[in-house]
Amino acid sequence: MKNLLNKKILFIICGGISAYKSLETIRLFKKNGAEIKTILTTSAKEFVTPLSITSLSQGKVYSDLFSVENEAEMDHISLSRWADIIVIAPATANTISKLAQGTTDDLASTVVLASDKDIILAPAMNVRMWEHPTTKTNIKKLKGFGYKLIGPEVGDMACGEYGEGKMSDPSVIAEEVDKYFLTQKNNKKFKALVTAGPTNEYIDPVRFITNKSSGKQGYELAKSLSKKGFDTTLISGPTNLEITKDINLIKVETADEMLVATQENLPVDVAIFSAAGADFKINKKYENKIKKQENLNLNLEKNVEYFIMCLTITP
Ligand SMILES: Cc1cc2nc3c(=O)[nH]c(=O)nc-3n(C[C@H](O)[C@H](O)[C@H](O)COP(=O)(O)O)c2cc1C
Repeated sequence: MKNLLNKKILFIICGGISAYKSLETIRLFKKNGAEIKTILTTSAKEFVTPLSITSLSQGKVYSDLFSVENEAEMDHISLSRWADIIVIAPATANTISKLAQGTTDDLASTVVLASDKDIILAPAMNVRMWEHPTTKTNIKKLKGFGYKLIGPEVGDMACGEYGEGKMSDPSVIAEEVDKYFLTQKNNKKFKALVTAGPTNEYIDPVRFITNKSSGKQGYELAKSLSKKGFDTTLISGPTNLEITKDINLIKVETADEMLVATQENLPVDVAIFSAAGADFKINKKYENKIKKQENLNLNLEKNVEYFIMCLTITP
């Protein structure tokens, strides 16, 4: 497991009987060079102690959303930003349900909802709980959000029943997390380019025509590609959106600027042209602000179709 070296894992332990296995999972993460911070839900503290977790992980254990000491040192938002990945093992039916609904009534659920990182769940529960339509619906929802699952397995349960719902072994969890980072590393070799947002085409120095576009689609595509490990460049027209630091953001205003910026950043392995560049531009931009007048005729011309030009020019 070479890919865990120096990786920052935010490890969330929920209150299930298999919480005791989290000690072994932490041991494997540590043995392979990962850095760990742990969140214990209130129920998890009934099954494992913060002391045993902290001594094994050599990292801080967090539990209370309203801890003044923790908020001052690393608040719940910073905690989610710190991590390369969030692993929840065991993930109880209760926490799965909260994550599916977007409930944020404790530190674990708040950090996960506030996170911009991938989330891996290792569910563990009684077979009836796992097979219940509510849990099935919640899991389907979480998969739709992009959460990844490890297990659960079929086997004998602590409650004496048999079926699906048993948490995967710590060795399986550690290997799957290692594989996740390997995929990230392999994808890093690939470059992605995304264009987003509208473009502004100036009439005079203070007025422009544009297309109505929020840019959200392109920003989400760029985030998703970056999360999958692509070295991602986002070329964006004017938007109010923010993007994570791992993405190379190039801001442009006009379609001509978008064309130049795009050409300068090609070739790439994946290019997604999602920008809604203005279809027309002013034939001849006024150099000075146009004075108020009763009528004004503008001569528009077809704008540069930057993506078609990029496709034809790029080898
Ligand atoms: C002995 C015992 C074992 C439990 N094991 C599980 C379990 O394996 N999976 C599960 O989903 N809930 C289990 N529960 C129920 C959870 O502890 C309970 O739903 C709790 O609210 C979960 O809180 P959390 O999701 O915030 O950690 C168990 C409860 C007890 C008393």
